[in-house]
Amino acid sequence: MDKKTIIVTGGAGFIGSNFVYYMLDKYPNYRIACLDALTYAGNLSTLKKAMENPNFRFVKADIRDKDAVEQLFEEEHPDIVVNFAAESHVDRSIRDPKLFLETNILGPEVLMDACRKYGVKRYHQVSTDEVYGDLPLDRPDLFFTEKTPLHASSPYSASKASADLVVMAYHRTYGLPVTISRCSNNYGPYHFPEKLIPLMIINALNDKPLPVYGDGLNVRDWLYVEDHCKAIDMIIHADCVGEVYNVGGHNEKSNIEIVKLILKELGKPESLIEFVEDRKGHDRRYAIDPTKIREQLGWEPETKFENGIVKTIKWYLDHKDWWEEIISGDYKNYYEKMYGDK
Ligand code: NAD
Ligand code: TYD
Repeated sequence: MDKKTIIVTGGAGFIGSNFVYYMLDKYPNYRIACLDALTYAGNLSTLKKAMENPNFRFVKADIRDKDAVEQLFEEEHPDIVVNFAAESHVDRSIRDPKLFLETNILGPEVLMDACRKYGVKRYHQVSTDEVYGDLPLDRPDLFFTEKTPLHASSPYSASKASADLVVMAYHRTYGLPVTISRCSNNYGPYHFPEKLIPLMIINALNDKPLPVYGDGLNVRDWLYVEDHCKAIDMIIHADCVGEVYNVGGHNEKSNIEIVKLILKELGKPESLIEFVEDRKGHDRRYAIDPTKIREQLGWEPETKFENGIVKTIKWYLDHKDWWEEIISGDYKNYYEKMYGDK
């Protein structure tokens, strides 16, 4: 593959860091420049190994900071920009929507303006299946396709849906070469402890209650993070400007199933489960139809959930230092605020 330079924003977070490692490993002649503001969700320790690679560079900056973004483009002359940077947690968006609108909508605008100015050949927006809203539990025949209307429920998903509209507007209006991927829920290494799977693993390991929202029957469509990275890699290398791809592996599970599975794997009792007050506006079910990416790009998920979840649990057991440092800091206040009165 010809040498390329890719700017990866949000590369100190969960999926972005997995993507950085995936790309450095797969393309030894590529240069990867990561731009990340290191919010609560970004961890430099996550990128420790990448820092040792001479093809990798880290810059601490905000995607909304036009000067910092332009300086990086000036220095790196990127061929491709992949935008992972975002506020990503639905519960936080319910408490503080403004930050989500600012980061998730205005950030892509700054990045795309820089792409126009410097003639970048591809801007890829990492979006989410949550832009489609939710599906009813009693209609297992229904799935999200790329033609499903945007119908976001939470401030988080509304901000991501808005960004998608702006991205497509930049394509139509300015001819910016864009692509969008809308993936289902990811799991795997470096997943921040506030999200369902890591939160339940860590609480179970610490013999703390496992807070399940509502009746626990909400369904998510889980994909191992490396399979998402593979999909983005395929999209940014394909001749598919202006296209949107849904990414998901037909792996629907209710939250309570996931929680019970984690407890079983760790040999912990189900009495740790605590049903708590439901999330406001809680989406019932997400389910992706991945036909387009499979037929057009040949993407298939590789990791089966039964193996991926065991690998993930083992990763958390082997990387206690990574998450113990996180949960001993500001996260303690977050947990108290979010779960103290539930
Ligand atoms: P994350 O919260 O783990 O990481 C987000 C990263 O972005 C962090 O490193 C943070 O420091 C950085 N960031 C936040 N605001 C920034 C700003 N203003 N400027 C620069 N950097 C900033 O998120 P994630 O779970 O890795 O999600 C990455 C992307 O993938 C998001 O765009 C999200 O909407 C999307 N997505 C996530 C999932 C999922 O299951 N986690 C599924 C589909 C799509
Ligand atoms: P989450 O990991 O926040 O992802 P998303 O809301 O983006 O799908 O939550 C996944 C599911 O788990 C969602 O239905 C909410 C539920 N959930 C709980 O039941 N308890 C919790 O403590 C958390 C964080 C989530």
